[in-house]
Amino acid sequence: MNDLILRAARGEKTERTPVWLMRQAGRILPEYRAVRSSVSGFVELCQTPELAAEVTIQPVDLLGVDAAIIFSDILVIPEAMGLPYEMVEKRGPFFPNTIQSEADLQKIRVADVQSDLGYVLEAIKLTKKELNGRVPLIGFAGAPFTIFCYMIEGQGSKTFSKAKKMFYTNPEFSHQLLQMITDSTIAYLKAQIQAGADMIQIFDSWAGILSPEQYSAFAMPYINQICDAITEVPKTVFAKGAYFAREAIGRSNCNTVGLDWNMDVAESRMLTNGKVLQGNLDPCALYGSNADVEKATKVMLDKFGPDKHIANLGHGVYPDIDPEKVKVFINTVKEYSEKMR
Ligand code: CP3
Repeated sequence: MNDLILRAARGEKTERTPVWLMRQAGRILPEYRAVRSSVSGFVELCQTPELAAEVTIQPVDLLGVDAAIIFSDILVIPEAMGLPYEMVEKRGPFFPNTIQSEADLQKIRVADVQSDLGYVLEAIKLTKKELNGRVPLIGFAGAPFTIFCYMIEGQGSKTFSKAKKMFYTNPEFSHQLLQMITDSTIAYLKAQIQAGADMIQIFDSWAGILSPEQYSAFAMPYINQICDAITEVPKTVFAKGAYFAREAIGRSNCNTVGLDWNMDVAESRMLTNGKVLQGNLDPCALYGSNADVEKATKVMLDKFGPDKHIANLGHGVYPDIDPEKVKVFINTVKEYSEKMR
């Protein structure tokens, strides 16, 4: 019924600006924490389709967003390729095994989506049934470079210097692994679409640590492969921190370019070849008072203008944000963007 975000992603004029939040399904909601504490942890929650569907729909009911995003993680791809992960409370992901050498490449495989990731596909089917057309469902995957980072380092890092080191010391090996990730990701996204995902987003969360030269050699070609292969639904590329890559992403086959809060909107419009833009309120703006959030949201909307915009934060919502502030953000987008037309 509400297909605003799909029409906006195709570049059509809409009655108002659609809005959703990256990481909307998760720890900001007490209702999410309740479901999560009913199982052993994050990984089990992802792997239980009924519960994954339930927490996917929570923000649609509780916050009023214009899209759901399937509850899962970008790290299911390394797992499906043969590197299981754990989610360590307060610390984040941890992979007991990592990829360090060409010998390690022999131990992993291109994901067999139906058998290795069937639980995500099942969750998508259930979610679509339960959403019953209320809002579109976004599927997603990590960009190959960001997934490469976790497969090499095995956990989060401020610099991902071990992953970057591979680009300098063993480019051929790096390309081999990046290609395996890309092949897995294309098959995975196509299966998500077949299961019911109405649009997809590629998260390149660590893009900003690469030099422009490395981004064009090791990141962009694989994003292009994915965007060229997915022709069924609108595609968003969010490359956090990669302000230097906006022009290249604008030339790619994606529909929407995600902006973080450091990226200037007017400059991004000039660089991105008429594409739809998504973003880009500073997630920390939601720590302000209701009046502050409303004001900051209006300033953001004025910068983007009424067309070719999907409202969002400039990165995922932080876990300690008050859901009431998120509602102020969402309601301000809905009311103010209608008046802008
Ligand atoms: O609401 C949604 O956006 C859907 C679900 C979703 C999750 N992770 C659930 C999650 C999505 C789209 C992601 C993407 C993701 N995962 C990214 C890209 C987006 C970004 O933030 O840059 C990255 C880098 C990851 C890897 C990851 N997953 C990390 C580093 C962590 C730990 C730190 C953190 O942010 O929580 C996770 C855990 C994770 N993924 C949680 C959730 C709800 C929290 C786990 C919990 O409930 O304990």
